[in-house]
Amino acid sequence: MAERAGPALSLFVTGTDTGVGKTLVSAGLLHALARYHPRVVGMKPVAAGTELIDGVAANDDVLALRAASSCRVPPELDNPVLLPDALSPHIAAQRAGVRIDIEHLVACQRALALRADAVVVEGAGGFMVPLSALETGADLAGALGLPVLLVVGLRLGCLNHALLTAEAIRARGLTLAGWVANQVDAAMLAPDDNIAFLQRQLRAPLLARIAYQAAPDPRALTFNLPSAWQ
Ligand SMILES: Nc1ncnc2c1ncn2[C@@H]1O[C@H](COP(=O)(O)OP(=O)(O)OP(=O)(O)O)[C@@H](O)[C@H]1O
Ligand SMILES: [Mg+2]
Repeated sequence: MAERAGPALSLFVTGTDTGVGKTLVSAGLLHALARYHPRVVGMKPVAAGTELIDGVAANDDVLALRAASSCRVPPELDNPVLLPDALSPHIAAQRAGVRIDIEHLVACQRALALRADAVVVEGAGGFMVPLSALETGADLAGALGLPVLLVVGLRLGCLNHALLTAEAIRARGLTLAGWVANQVDAAMLAPDDNIAFLQRQLRAPLLARIAYQAAPDPRALTFNLPSAWQ
C-alpha cells in the first residue's frame, strides 16, 4: 500500500435515479479503494430521511458509508446536511428551515480530502435532484469538480436515464470517469443487451457489473478500478 504523496483521490457518485444502488456502490468502492489507500472516507453531503437509533436521528446512507470508511471524521464533515423528511432535498430543507449552501458542502469535501487518501461522495437522488428553488445536485457536482461515477440501475427505462445523465454530467464540464451496471430489478429482460448498448454509448469504462441479490454486500463487490485510482 503506497503512501499518497499528492492530493487525495476524490470521486462523486451519482445515479440514474434514486434507489439505484449509489450507497451500495459507494460503500463497495470504499472497500475496494481501501486495498490501495490507508484512509478512505465516504461523504453524504445532503441526506434526507432519518430514523431514531438509540434516541439519535440517523440516516441509513450515512451509516452505511461510515461503516465502509476506515477514517473517522467529525459528523459535520461527512454529512453536513441531515434532514428529517425522506423527500426531495429542496422540500425537506424547506420543511426543516435549512438553506443548503453548496460552498459549505464543497469546503467540507475539501476538508475530508485533507484528512483522508480517498473520498467517495454520494450525491442525493439522481444527478439533477433539486437542492433549493434554484440549485440542483448537478450544481453541487460542478462546484466539487470531481470525476463522476454513474450507477445505472438496470431496469426498463434506464437507457434513457443513463444517456440523459451522461449528457448532463459532460455539459457541466465534468468527466464521466466510469459507470456501474447494477441489476436492481431481478425480472429485467435482456440486461446483457442493455449493458452492451451502454458500453457502446456512454464512452466511459464499465467499472462493475452487479447481479441482483437478496442481500447485497458491499464488501463482496468486484471493481475494475482505473489504475489512476490505485
Ligand atoms: N444488485 C442489487 N440487488 C438487489 N438489491 C439491490 C441491489 N442494489 C441495490 N439494491 C437495494 O436497493 C435499495 C436501494 O439501494 P441503495 O440504497 O444503494 O440506492 P441509492 O441509489 O443509494 O438510493 P438513494 O437515492 O436513496 O440514496 C437498497 O435496499 C439496496 O439494498
Ligand atoms: Mg443512497
